[in-house]
Amino acid sequence: MSKVILLNGSPHPHGCTATALEEMIGVFEEEGIGTELIHVGAKDIRGCISCGKCSEAGKCVFDDLVNEVAPKFEAADGLVVGSPVYYGSPNGTILSFMDRLFYSTSFSKHLKVGAAVVSCRRGGNTATFDVLNKYFTISGMPVASSTYWNQVHGFSREDVEKDLEGLQTMRNLARNMSFMIKAFADAKEKYGEPEVERGSFTSFPDGK
Ligand SMILES: Cc1cc2nc3c(=O)[nH]c(=O)nc-3n(C[C@H](O)[C@H](O)[C@H](O)COP(=O)(O)O)c2cc1C
Repeated sequence: MSKVILLNGSPHPHGCTATALEEMIGVFEEEGIGTELIHVGAKDIRGCISCGKCSEAGKCVFDDLVNEVAPKFEAADGLVVGSPVYYGSPNGTILSFMDRLFYSTSFSKHLKVGAAVVSCRRGGNTATFDVLNKYFTISGMPVASSTYWNQVHGFSREDVEKDLEGLQTMRNLARNMSFMIKAFADAKEKYGEPEVERGSFTSFPDGK
């Protein structure tokens, strides 16, 4: 069974972001895709210190939720990251989590489908959306889209329940993501996976 991991960057397990992610989960269930919703936002997740130890150990030196989620991400076919907007950006906890999850894991993320979802009261949504999508596009992960920006508006769950277009956008996003996951599975059987070159790593160590 295909599976999608959904990360809730909000500290509120029943807040606005969770409401959006739960709307997606309803569709994934209809589509026969397994899900796991993981609440990240209230956890004590520190930032990456660029120690590089993960390249030897294969996991982050800080043994917290990041290392728990890593094997689940490796086994999954898709990843949804949801974040409330804090000062026009993703909230700090989910940023620390995503930096460390993506940097500390060496498994291929190629062709796992990614989607970002944001929740704000008024503004800063598209800037937040842009930041989150970059984790996917630097990792060979095709990004699922919907019928509008993947966003809901509100300060409370009740507000988001009134954001009918936002919830519709979540359902369409989950349908598109489900289709992509199934289509990629079929295409991998039919065509194999595209070649990935990794020989070059240009970091200009000589300063040129
Ligand atoms: C520290 C902080 C900063 C915030 N900054 C913004 C902001 O820049 N723009 C906005 O529209 N809402 C902002 N909000 C409101 C939340 O983004 C919004 O209520 C969101 O939907 C809450 O989602 P949640 O219930 O999943 O936590 C901020 C909230 C907090 C706590």
